Amino acid sequence: MAERKWLICRSEDLTDGGLGRRFQAEWHGVPAPAFVVRWMGRVYGYLNECQHIPIELDFNEGDFFDLSKQYLVCATHGAYYRPDNGLCLGGPCKGRRLTRLTVVEQEGEVYYLPDGELGDKV
Ligand code: FES
Repeated sequence: MAERKWLICRSEDLTDGGLGRRFQAEWHGVPAPAFVVRWMGRVYGYLNECQHIPIELDFNEGDFFDLSKQYLVCATHGAYYRPDNGLCLGGPCKGRRLTRLTVVEQEGEVYYLPDGELGDKV
Protein backbone atom coordinates (compact mmCIF):
# COMPACT_ATOMS: atom_id res chain seq x y z
CA MET A 1 0.00 0.00 0.00
CA ALA A 2 1.36 3.41 -0.91
CA GLU A 3 2.29 5.57 2.03
CA ARG A 4 -0.23 8.34 2.58
CA LYS A 5 1.02 11.91 2.22
CA TRP A 6 -1.12 14.93 3.06
CA LEU A 7 -0.29 18.44 1.92
CA ILE A 8 -0.17 20.96 4.79
CA CYS A 9 1.12 24.14 3.19
CA ARG A 10 3.79 25.58 0.96
CA SER A 11 7.36 25.80 2.28
CA GLU A 12 7.32 29.58 1.99
CA ASP A 13 4.35 29.74 4.35
CA LEU A 14 6.62 28.75 7.25
CA THR A 15 9.23 31.30 8.23
CA ASP A 16 11.91 30.49 10.79
CA GLY A 17 10.50 31.11 14.26
CA GLY A 18 7.38 32.60 12.69
CA LEU A 19 3.75 31.61 12.65
CA GLY A 20 3.04 27.91 12.36
CA ARG A 21 0.30 26.19 10.39
CA ARG A 22 -2.44 24.21 12.03
CA PHE A 23 -3.69 21.07 10.35
CA GLN A 24 -5.71 17.99 11.11
CA ALA A 25 -3.54 14.95 11.78
CA GLU A 26 -4.55 11.39 12.50
CA TRP A 27 -3.53 9.84 15.78
CA HIS A 28 -4.33 6.18 16.43
CA GLY A 29 -6.93 6.40 13.69
CA VAL A 30 -8.68 9.45 15.13
CA PRO A 31 -8.50 13.04 13.80
CA ALA A 32 -6.35 15.21 16.02
CA PRO A 33 -5.36 18.89 15.87
CA ALA A 34 -1.72 19.39 14.96
CA PHE A 35 0.71 22.02 13.75
CA VAL A 36 3.95 22.56 11.89
CA VAL A 37 6.57 25.21 12.48
CA ARG A 38 9.95 26.00 11.01
CA TRP A 39 12.92 26.34 13.34
CA MET A 40 16.62 26.63 12.44
CA GLY A 41 15.65 25.91 8.85
CA ARG A 42 13.83 22.64 9.50
CA VAL A 43 10.16 21.86 9.66
CA TYR A 44 8.74 20.12 12.75
CA GLY A 45 5.26 18.80 13.39
CA TYR A 46 3.49 18.02 16.66
CA LEU A 47 0.05 17.26 17.96
CA ASN A 48 -1.42 20.53 19.18
CA GLU A 49 -1.87 19.38 22.75
CA CYS A 50 -0.15 20.74 25.81
CA GLN A 51 1.24 18.07 28.14
CA HIS A 52 -0.10 19.84 31.22
CA ILE A 53 -3.79 19.80 30.37
CA PRO A 54 -4.81 18.51 26.93
CA ILE A 55 -5.69 21.82 25.36
CA GLU A 56 -4.19 23.46 22.28
CA LEU A 57 -1.01 25.47 22.64
CA ASP A 58 -1.83 28.51 20.52
CA PHE A 59 -4.32 31.08 21.71
CA ASN A 60 -3.86 33.20 18.58
CA GLU A 61 -3.98 30.87 15.60
CA GLY A 62 -0.52 29.66 14.55
CA ASP A 63 1.29 31.62 17.26
CA PHE A 64 3.41 28.84 18.78
CA PHE A 65 6.75 30.53 19.48
CA ASP A 66 7.65 32.61 22.50
CA LEU A 67 9.02 36.13 22.05
CA SER A 68 12.61 34.88 21.77
CA LYS A 69 11.58 32.56 18.88
CA GLN A 70 13.55 29.80 20.59
CA TYR A 71 10.75 27.84 22.26
CA LEU A 72 7.27 26.64 21.56
CA VAL A 73 5.04 27.94 24.29
CA CYS A 74 1.64 27.09 25.66
CA ALA A 75 -0.43 30.26 25.78
CA THR A 76 -2.47 29.07 28.76
CA HIS A 77 0.07 28.53 31.57
CA GLY A 78 3.36 29.16 29.81
CA ALA A 79 4.92 25.70 29.49
CA TYR A 80 7.74 25.96 26.98
CA TYR A 81 9.08 23.25 24.73
CA ARG A 82 12.12 22.67 22.54
CA PRO A 83 11.06 23.10 18.91
CA ASP A 84 13.30 20.27 17.68
CA ASN A 85 12.13 17.44 19.92
CA GLY A 86 9.14 18.73 21.88
CA LEU A 87 10.72 18.35 25.33
CA CYS A 88 9.15 20.62 27.92
CA LEU A 89 11.93 22.62 29.58
CA GLY A 90 9.85 24.61 32.03
CA GLY A 91 6.35 25.05 33.35
CA PRO A 92 3.82 22.71 34.91
CA CYS A 93 4.68 19.75 32.64
CA LYS A 94 8.48 20.04 32.68
CA GLY A 95 10.16 16.87 31.43
CA ARG A 96 7.24 15.71 29.30
CA ARG A 97 7.16 15.86 25.50
CA LEU A 98 4.85 17.00 22.78
CA THR A 99 3.90 14.20 20.43
CA ARG A 100 6.04 14.56 17.35
CA LEU A 101 4.63 13.78 13.93
CA THR A 102 6.33 12.83 10.69
CA VAL A 103 6.43 15.80 8.36
CA VAL A 104 8.57 16.24 5.26
CA GLU A 105 9.42 19.08 2.96
CA GLN A 106 9.52 18.23 -0.74
CA GLU A 107 9.69 20.45 -3.80
CA GLY A 108 8.53 23.56 -2.00
CA GLU A 109 5.69 21.93 -0.10
CA VAL A 110 5.23 20.57 3.41
CA TYR A 111 3.52 17.23 3.91
CA TYR A 112 2.31 15.16 6.82
CA LEU A 113 2.88 11.40 6.64
CA PRO A 114 0.12 9.86 8.76
CA ASP A 115 1.76 6.46 8.57
CA GLY A 116 5.13 7.82 9.71
CA GLU A 117 6.87 6.15 12.58
CA LEU A 118 7.96 9.08 14.73
CA GLY A 119 5.09 9.31 17.17
CA ASP A 120 6.35 10.15 20.64
CA LYS A 121 9.46 7.98 20.35
CA VAL A 122 11.77 10.81 19.32
S1 FES B 1 -2.32 23.91 29.61
FE1 FES B 1 -0.34 24.32 28.74
S2 FES B 1 0.85 24.94 30.45
FE2 FES B 1 -1.09 24.55 31.29
